[in-house]
Amino acid sequence: MVNVAVIGIGWWGQTIIDVLATSATLKVVKGVKRNPASVSEFAASRGVEVISDYGTVLRDPNVHAVILCTPHSQHTEQIIAAARAGKHVFCEKPLTLTRADAVRAATEIEAAQRVLAVGHERRFEPPILELMRAIRAGELGTPLQVEGNFSQDKFLAMAADNWRLSPAEAPAGPLTATGIHVLDLAIGVFGEAESVCASVKQLGSHLRNGDTLAALVAFKRGGHALITAILATPFDGRFAVYGSKGWIEVRDKAHPSAPQGWTLTKVLSGERRSTTEFPPVSGVAANLEAFAAAVEGRSPYPVSHAEMIANIAALEAVVESARTGAKVSVA
Ligand SMILES: NC(=O)c1ccc[n+]([C@@H]2O[C@H](COP(=O)([O-])OP(=O)(O)OC[C@H]3O[C@@H](n4cnc5c(N)ncnc54)[C@H](O)[C@@H]3O)[C@@H](O)[C@H]2O)c1
Repeated sequence: MVNVAVIGIGWWGQTIIDVLATSATLKVVKGVKRNPASVSEFAASRGVEVISDYGTVLRDPNVHAVILCTPHSQHTEQIIAAARAGKHVFCEKPLTLTRADAVRAATEIEAAQRVLAVGHERRFEPPILELMRAIRAGELGTPLQVEGNFSQDKFLAMAADNWRLSPAEAPAGPLTATGIHVLDLAIGVFGEAESVCASVKQLGSHLRNGDTLAALVAFKRGGHALITAILATPFDGRFAVYGSKGWIEVRDKAHPSAPQGWTLTKVLSGERRSTTEFPPVSGVAANLEAFAAAVEGRSPYPVSHAEMIANIAALEAVVESARTGAKVSVA
């Protein structure tokens, strides 16, 4: 059993505690929130002790790993502190806000020989696993282009001063909320990005940080990704890969926090269009279980540090391109 402490008991920290309630491998033994009293009812109903001090958790030998569900700007230093205390880390996305910080975090984790995982649960969803398998098997030929969209309207209800709407914590509008998941999947297909042209606008809401993101990402080994993320329209999730021998599109039926399954559409050259329905499965749970398997030495975590760093390098370029309006080379 891997004993974990969940750091940050807001929307996603509470979601993760509930997802782990039925886990046979991960046990939540502690929570950390700056003001524990504000979640006392939730903590009591889940039987989780919530304290205010992260350092206490890092010194606790009964805690093997931390799950970071805190504001983005805190991730780097919290990962480094955990690594230095000998704890494994599951960090919510985005891992960090700059490539340099992602490198620093990964370097400390490697020095401490701990596991680092990141909250990109979309990679663990069954139709995405099937899509990636088909690409690796060559069924789609040479991957040419990705089109992905992850949009939602959950943020419209947030108070204007919520950190998730601040340009410092959430640069490029919808990027750190949802666009980053699509960017991560595109990197899973094509590897490191080479350049980015991005635009963020405030078009359909009061979200002054921007509600509509469009990004064109070009990759070092060829291929483009066209990424859309909108915070002022109802949920949509779509990820499609077009290749020289065929294409596959995965469509979500509901937001990943309460999945209702997916439809996978496949067209191979010269063949009829086929569709496969996938029943709901929690990608969030599957990601956490993959983390536990890596911590226990049963199988390596399937996303490499190089891919995690490539994702943040691309994120940084999207932010810079959206800010300046220029095409930006990826570090
Ligand atoms: N994987 C996903 O699909 C997904 C979905 C939603 C959110 N997230 C990620 O989860 C993280 C948290 O987002 P959220 O929407 O839950 O935000 P939130 O504001 O609802 O929760 C953040 C919590 O962290 C607490 N906090 C802040 N600083 C802290 C500190 N130093 N120590 C302990 N607690 C601290 C805040 O009080 C708050 O309770 C972000 O990285 C976000 O991107 C991921």
